[in-house]
Amino acid sequence: MRVLTRIAYGLRPLARDPSLYNIIRAVRDRKLTYLDRWALLDLCDAVQQLERKRLAGALVEAGVALGGSAIVLARSKTLARPLHLYDVFGMIPPPSEHDGSDAHIRYAEIADGRAVGIRGDRYYGYEDELLKKVRKNFARFGIDPEKSTCALLAGAIRGNASH
Ligand SMILES: C[S@@+](CC[C@H](N)C(=O)[O-])C[C@H]1O[C@@H](n2cnc3c(N)ncnc32)[C@H](O)[C@@H]1O
Repeated sequence: MRVLTRIAYGLRPLARDPSLYNIIRAVRDRKLTYLDRWALLDLCDAVQQLERKRLAGALVEAGVALGGSAIVLARSKTLARPLHLYDVFGMIPPPSEHDGSDAHIRYAEIADGRAVGIRGDRYYGYEDELLKKVRKNFARFGIDPEKSTCALLAGAIRGNASH
């Protein structure tokens, strides 16, 4: 019963906007996200609930990578709601002493040039022009960041992100 309830809740965003099905499928097929379908549906649901309740405010994503989850967020929100998308769009900054050993191990892999990207692809952080590629990914989904009030903000997020 719990599983059925979970599935019913999980599919709620598609009942509200069936076009999200193809977006989620394409974002995953093109290997633009680490997230599975259910996690992407959770994002859609959270945004739809904000919109339904007419809650004001901006959305923020810290860590865009190739733009997969950002595209899903952008397509779930109203055009007017700002979406601030932060990433270095390049080499990830080193972890600090506050990060766990998993982050240090992953960083060592990335820094050594041994990292593998999403489902076996080249690691996106090694791309010379990742921000350009992310803009192209948005365009492939028919999203013009300006018209959709999405800001792609390049730079390292520190303890007190200030953009
Ligand atoms: C796991 S990926 C994001 C995945 C993506 N949201 C998706 O749909 O799968 C994490 C991203 O966060 C970025 N990142 C990590 N630490 C950062 C920092 N301190 N400042 C800016 N970007 C950072 C990395 O460069 C990487 O692109």
